[in-house]
Amino acid sequence: MSLKNRAALATRVIHAGQEPDPATGAVVPPLYTATTFVQDGIGKNRGYDYSRSGNPTRQRVETCLADLENAAAAFVFPSGLSAASIMVATLKPGARIVAHEDLYGGVYRLLAQVAPAMSGVQVDLIDFCDTETLAASAQGADLLWFETPSNPLLKVVDLQAVAAIARDVGAVSVCDSTFASPCGQLPLDHGIDVVMHSATKFLGGHSDFLGGVLAVSERAPKGLADRVGYLQNALGAVMCPSDCALLLRSLRTLALRVERQGASAAFLAQQLEAQAEEFGISEVIYPGLASHPGHGVAAQQMTSFGALISLRLTGGTKRVERVLTSTELFHFAVSLGSVESLIQHPASLTHAAVAEEHREKISIGDDLVRLSVGCEDPNDLLADLVSAFAAG
Ligand SMILES: Cc1ncc(COP(=O)(O)O)c(C=O)c1O
Repeated sequence: MSLKNRAALATRVIHAGQEPDPATGAVVPPLYTATTFVQDGIGKNRGYDYSRSGNPTRQRVETCLADLENAAAAFVFPSGLSAASIMVATLKPGARIVAHEDLYGGVYRLLAQVAPAMSGVQVDLIDFCDTETLAASAQGADLLWFETPSNPLLKVVDLQAVAAIARDVGAVSVCDSTFASPCGQLPLDHGIDVVMHSATKFLGGHSDFLGGVLAVSERAPKGLADRVGYLQNALGAVMCPSDCALLLRSLRTLALRVERQGASAAFLAQQLEAQAEEFGISEVIYPGLASHPGHGVAAQQMTSFGALISLRLTGGTKRVERVLTSTELFHFAVSLGSVESLIQHPASLTHAAVAEEHREKISIGDDLVRLSVGCEDPNDLLADLVSAFAAG
């Protein structure tokens, strides 16, 4: 069932692609673990032959995600990096990618190190917030790749500006929207061709499975969605049916979780900024704060400023380590977007794969910590941070 343009996202997360099972009336779609399906004759089947090529549970979650992102089609993969790899595989050898300089470390490694070595792809990293430089650098590019808000500096990229530049130069635009989720922003509505997610994060929301998504716009270059679907099967990059069922279960609470997590993050960011000096914080980075350089753009294109906050702490690396290991509710662990709050250290963890000079250039230093705000009571979370700042 497509609910596009007919119902709000909070309704669509529960109903899109999730009609009761026609055979039994079960309100939760059945989990099909079968790897193979009986054929009724040569060239005759009931829609499926082999689970890598198509699976009814995967079909359900892909239908739901296409609906949520207002996409022509969506595809799910075993991890976010697998989704990114498939997108890179759509390119011809020697193609040119222009990517935002602030990217998750694993995506940086894929684009800046693995793809050039494997298929001679050329990659330039630039600041996508500077649209003049982007317009100049994008000449001759095949793919424009960016995250907004970006990981870990939470830079906000203007979706419509990138979409217009991509159209002008004939490049495909890909937005990694992991930090926002469809309940925070809808990049395809702003003219972007492909939206990517690590479903491991907000979409899954419980830190209990890995997944990735590519959703392709109706306005994307002809044949792109078919090519992504072809490569998903041809390269075997499929999400397993039990994870598809978990993802569908998690999507049902996505709107609630994102609303709660965004509200708590906004509260914490304001409190931390108001008492920054007292807490030994030199900078609070959150797109919902008026002090954030991308706040104006974020307010135009986002419906929730998200649940990630980055902080720069004073007092040196030893103090940063004491803070990271002193919180009780915020677990010191990588990942984000889940119901439990997390705190992590990008320079040594999520961005360890990024070349040191590049980390220095864009200011991912030892003073930077990243918070992912969960669904706990926001006052408890504030008290936890305050006592860790005091211990540090
Ligand atoms: C913004 C972003 N994109 C992609 C990924 C990669 O996703 P996965 O870990 O599911 O492969 C991550 C992981 O942290 C991420 O933060």
